[in-house]
Amino acid sequence: MAFKVELQPSRHSFEVSPDKTILQAGLDAGFHMPHSCRVGMCRTCRGTIKSGRVDYGDVHPASLSDIDKAKGYVLCCQARPLENTVIEVKELDGIDVLRPRVIPCRVEKVDKPTPDVAVISVRLPMNENFRFLAGQHIDVQLRDGKRRSYSIANSPKPEGVTTLELHVRHTPGGTFTDQVFSTLKVRDLLSFEGPLGTFYVREDSDKPIVMVASGTGFAPIKAMCEAAMQKGMKRPIALYWGCWTRRDLYMLSLPESWQHPNLKFIPVLSNPTPECAWTGRTGFVHRAVMEDFPNLSGVQVYACGAPAMVEAARADFSEKCGLPPEQFYADAFLTEAEKAAA
Ligand SMILES: Cc1cc2nc3c(=O)[nH]c(=O)nc-3n(C[C@H](O)[C@H](O)[C@H](O)COP(=O)(O)OP(=O)(O)OC[C@H]3O[C@@H](n4cnc5c(N)ncnc54)[C@H](O)[C@@H]3O)c2cc1C
Ligand code: FES
Repeated sequence: MAFKVELQPSRHSFEVSPDKTILQAGLDAGFHMPHSCRVGMCRTCRGTIKSGRVDYGDVHPASLSDIDKAKGYVLCCQARPLENTVIEVKELDGIDVLRPRVIPCRVEKVDKPTPDVAVISVRLPMNENFRFLAGQHIDVQLRDGKRRSYSIANSPKPEGVTTLELHVRHTPGGTFTDQVFSTLKVRDLLSFEGPLGTFYVREDSDKPIVMVASGTGFAPIKAMCEAAMQKGMKRPIALYWGCWTRRDLYMLSLPESWQHPNLKFIPVLSNPTPECAWTGRTGFVHRAVMEDFPNLSGVQVYACGAPAMVEAARADFSEKCGLPPEQFYADAFLTEAEKAAA
């Protein structure tokens, strides 16, 4: 049986049939509900039940504990209403024109700055002026109906872009990345759906920003920083990029070259070897943030990359440094293995 869900404060409402989650039904109805992983792990879709009852879905207690449920929290990507329900959710403004579409593209360039990272440029058809927000991602469509998400690493332009840059890390045994690192070549045709996701800088705030990336999580952070510099954004940005070794900082010279009074770049290595000849910061990247910002209560954080880093940052920043949970925005690069485990 279908039930009505009303979102507050917008008062947008829609029917949710039994085969859909609240998030899916809301997105299908055209409402911009926040989301990222869609498998109940990232908590981006979290809302608060104001009235009614839901089936919470099969959610791990680490993502939604019994205490969270008692407080009224719900993960909209997993929950289904059991009666007419009202949920408080911060819907997103300003992305009305950015409805996702399926678009063909051609591989224009494949660079391998390290043996396990490919920087791929894809060109869109001439008449496509692709518009997106810095930080969003696309889903590359594979032959058998599978999809793989990749963040857009170049910054958007008001008139749209015709080329997208993707940073792809090799996951050995992975369906798409094995192909990228063996057979993918210039002029190959791909298709993708996008733009997707709600990872982008909230411009309705003037709080200083901390950005924290691990590995290829640098891709959307690069787009966000470049867009911020182009717009002349006044908010200070501290960008932390963590990798295992010096080699994994596959584009180090780029953020080092950014000359902007409001942007500070701090690379961090967790496992430097003697060959790295590294004299910079070491340890876990989110710990470097905590050393420099023991009090994050007045800051907005954008984190992207390995799910373990994102989860550690989410927990430690709010529990140990006073970051308000709603000021933490993230895209965790979940793979199929992690989604299956979820
Ligand atoms: C929002 C988002 C943005 C992302 N952006 C980026 C990005 O910019 N750059 C980037 O490098 N990555 C990004 N990722 C990760 C990316 O989408 C892929 O997950 C990753 O590249 C691996 O894809 P693959 O097809 O090569 O591997 P997969 O086929 O997904 O396999 C990954 C691993 O899981 C195993 N596996 C596959 N299926 C299962 C299963 N059912 N059960 C158990 N194990 C399984 C495989 O053997 C392999 O070891 C992003 C992910 C998300 C969610
Ligand atoms: S989108 Fe619901 S938990 Fe990630």
